[in-house]
Amino acid sequence: GLPDHLEILGTRYPTDAITNVTPAILSKLSLRLHTQHAHPLNTLRSLIEAHYPDWAHLSSLSPLVTPYQNFDELSFPKDHPGRAVTDSYYVNKDMMLRTHTSAHEVEVFRKGHTKWLLTADVYRRDEIDGSHYPVFHQMEGACIFDADASAMKAVEEDNARLSQQLEQANIVIEDVPHISPTNPVQPSHDARHSELVAKNLKLSLNTLMFKLFGGVAGSSKENPLRVRWIEAYFPFTSPSFEVEVFFQGKWLEILGCGVVRQATLDTAGVSNKMGWAFGLGLERIAMILYSIPDIRLFWSTDPRFLSQFEHGKITTFKPYSKYPSCFKDVSFWSPKDKTIHENDFCDLVRDVAGDLVEDVRKIDHFVHPKTGRTSTCFRINYRSMDRSLSNEEVNVIQSQVVSRLRDQLGVEIR
Ligand code: PHE
Repeated sequence: GLPDHLEILGTRYPTDAITNVTPAILSKLSLRLHTQHAHPLNTLRSLIEAHYPDWAHLSSLSPLVTPYQNFDELSFPKDHPGRAVTDSYYVNKDMMLRTHTSAHEVEVFRKGHTKWLLTADVYRRDEIDGSHYPVFHQMEGACIFDADASAMKAVEEDNARLSQQLEQANIVIEDVPHISPTNPVQPSHDARHSELVAKNLKLSLNTLMFKLFGGVAGSSKENPLRVRWIEAYFPFTSPSFEVEVFFQGKWLEILGCGVVRQATLDTAGVSNKMGWAFGLGLERIAMILYSIPDIRLFWSTDPRFLSQFEHGKITTFKPYSKYPSCFKDVSFWSPKDKTIHENDFCDLVRDVAGDLVEDVRKIDHFVHPKTGRTSTCFRINYRSMDRSLSNEEVNVIQSQVVSRLRDQLGVEIR
């Protein structure tokens, strides 16, 4: 069963009915890959920081935040799905693992920072596969200006300078209007100021995208880097956008951003300012730039992985041979009137098997016509990144999964 307290980063927290952090997840909190020497995530962080040399660079805030910081301060509605225990990790009802770096916006603005970058590990309950991992890294950037005529004139000049810089680059940008009926200016903002700020956001991030991806795409006029802006929605920005980059035949989602909601700045005690913020995921970008094929590799301590990198340099990862995989199926009847959420299943598997689980897929699901009970079959694919697993070893892990399913989730194995 669950202990009545958990010790996390040196502090004791009582558990309660919604506690769902597992030892597998808690073991990641102290690793801080974005600060490990020569780690690709650290190099990527340095590159982005170098693009904003005069800004504050923060990277050591605790992953434990209150639901108030993660959601309420950022204007998330009370019934937002991200709050659910199936989607987020809770230590108890008052403390959770941040799901995004935006959780720190208010405290950083409150400290008086006006131009800042913040890098951190974030946690989301999710399925298991080669591009999803329950811990990943985000970088938040924000830039706020005085909301007056002279500061807005400076933004306009900065926009002219950035536009000119982009004209020299092999980049093709698909844009959307800065403001539209579905992506409105905030009631407290002057529409012309909001447009200038949104334009500054776009220019700043377009130059960042070119700096990051210009080496792999956008090498010539005939083969430019393609960046696409899309209208988006976030509770804490308006207007809001998403940025996608065209890479190897696909549009890849790179970041979310927008004009900071005045409520956020009000809560932080910042008055007479307005500005923009963005949040980007580092793994997705690093996988592209380094050709890293599996998100679990970032967590590898295998010298065949780590020794390939040099701090500050982006190099092409040379995959070493993969060890064979081994799959096991498990079918079960759910308890009466209860459905087992896929994320609960995945966390249980991950807690038993750690990084030996490569992916989990639901391969069958049906309701018995007479009894009304639900049967589900999951296929678990096991593979180690650094050695060959024996069938016996995998059977031992699988039987632990099966008995925990029975004891913890109350299912009947078929
Ligand atoms: N926090 C958002 C996410 O994780 C991204 C974002 C950051 C959007 C800042 C707008 C402004 O999806």
